[in-house]
Amino acid sequence: MKTTQTSTLKTKPQATPIPHTPNWTPPTWRDFPAAQQPSWSSVDELESITNQLRKQPALVFSGEMRKLTSQLARVAAGKAFLLQAGDCAESFDTSAPSIREKLRIILQMAIVLTYSGGLPLVKVGRIAGQFAKPRSKPTETVNNVELESFRGHIVNDTEFTREARTPDPQRLLTAYHRSASTLNLLRSFTRGGFADLSQVSKWNREFVASSAAGQRYSRMADEIHRALKFINACNINSSNTPQLHEVELYTSHEALLLNYEEGLTRVDSLTGMWYDCSAHMLWIGERTRQVDGAHVEFLRGVHNPIGCKIGPTVTPDEALRLCEVLNPHKIPGRLTFISRIGASHVNTLLPPLLKAVRDSDYPVVWVCDPMHGNTYTTSRGRKTRHFDDVLAEIRGFFAAHKKSGTWPGGIHIELTGENVTECLGGSDQLSDEDLEQAFETLCDPRLNGRQSVDLAFQVSELLTEYMEDD
Ligand code: PEP
Ligand code: CO
Repeated sequence: MKTTQTSTLKTKPQATPIPHTPNWTPPTWRDFPAAQQPSWSSVDELESITNQLRKQPALVFSGEMRKLTSQLARVAAGKAFLLQAGDCAESFDTSAPSIREKLRIILQMAIVLTYSGGLPLVKVGRIAGQFAKPRSKPTETVNNVELESFRGHIVNDTEFTREARTPDPQRLLTAYHRSASTLNLLRSFTRGGFADLSQVSKWNREFVASSAAGQRYSRMADEIHRALKFINACNINSSNTPQLHEVELYTSHEALLLNYEEGLTRVDSLTGMWYDCSAHMLWIGERTRQVDGAHVEFLRGVHNPIGCKIGPTVTPDEALRLCEVLNPHKIPGRLTFISRIGASHVNTLLPPLLKAVRDSDYPVVWVCDPMHGNTYTTSRGRKTRHFDDVLAEIRGFFAAHKKSGTWPGGIHIELTGENVTECLGGSDQLSDEDLEQAFETLCDPRLNGRQSVDLAFQVSELLTEYMEDD
C-alpha cells in the first residue's frame, strides 16, 4: 500500500496524555453564535432540563471513546476502513425490530467490506441519539400558516399543527431515554449471539437475499461458513475468540443541540478529561461548522473522536483552520473530515483539500458522505437521491485519494434495513413512480437494504482496486 498522509507525519504517539483544552468548560459555547438552535418555548424550562440531564448516567464511557479514537488512528494511517451508517433522523417511535433490521444491514455491509477488502473495519452507527436535524429554513409555511420547521424528534413533531411543531424542551429527556433503550438493545444484539459470525447467512433477510447483491452475499456467506468449519476441523478453539462472536458497534450523531450535549458532558474519573457521554463519536454538520461558532467551540473541548462535515464551499484554508482548532495536538483518530461535495464537483473540489491537509501536519480520517451533496427534488416533489450519483461521488473520492496518495478512509451512509423506496436507481432501477410505494423517512431519503448491500459490494471493489494498484 502506498505511504499514506499520516504515516510520515510528525504526530504524537497515542499514549501521550491529551492536554486539557485551554479556556474551555462545557458552557463556553454559550458565548459564541450558535446556528440552527430551535426557538424553545421556555428558556427556563430548557435550563431546568439541561440540569436534569447533568444528573443522568452517562450513555457511553470514556474508555470506549479512547478505544474508538485508537481504531480511527488506524484508519488515518491507512490500515483500516470506517463504515459510518444509519438513519438520517431516528424516530422516537422506532420499534425494536426496526433497530434490529438496521443493525442487520450494517453487519451485512461490514462483512462484505471486511471480507473483500481484507482490512479491519471500524463500525459506527448513526444511531442511539441521531434525533436532531439542521434545516435549510427555520419555518415552513402552508396555506399562509407559518410554523417552526420539523427539527427532529428531539425538538418537535412532524405534524403541521402549532402544538406538534412548537419546540418542547421535555423532548431532550425523551431523547436521552430513547438513546439509552436503543443502546441497550444494540449492546445485547452485538454481544448476545445475533452478531456471531456463524450467523452470517441469517443476516440476509428475504427481501435482500432475492436481489443480485443478496445472492452474491449468500455465496460469500457460504465461503465464510466453510472457512469457519475449516478452523474448527483444525482443532483451533474458536469459542474463546470474541472477535468471531461479538461485534463492536460504536454510536454517533450530529452534535446539534448544544444544551443536550452540554448536559451529558462529564469529567472522566480516570484521566480528568471532559467527554461528551451522549455518543462515542459526535460530528459537526455542514451548516454549523463555522470556526468561530458555538458548535466548533463546544466540540474542541471534549475528548471524544469527532467528525466535521465539509461541503463544496469549504476552502483549503478553512479546512486547515478546523484542524488547528479541533485537533491542535495532532492526535491521530481525533478528527474525521466527512466530505459531502456532490458527484459533479468531487473531482475538482476534493483534491485541493486533500493536498492542503496532506501537506500540513494534521492527521485526518477522510470519509465520503455521498448522500448530502446529491439530494434533489423530483417533479412529484419528493426529495431523493440517485444510487448512481451516490456511487459516482464515492468513485470520485477514491480517485482523488489515489491522485494525492492519501487514504480513502471510509464511507458515511444514510440507510434503513426496511424495504423502503426513497432513493432512485440501484439494481431494482427504482423510478420516480416507485418512490410513492414506501417513502417513509422523517427527513432525508435513505438507501434500502438491497441498495445498501449492493453499495457495499461496489465499494469493496473500489477498495480492492485501490490497494491492488499500489
Ligand atoms: C446529515 O448528516 O443528516 C446532514 C444534515 O448532513 P450535512 O450537515 O452534511 O448537510
Ligand atoms: Co441526512
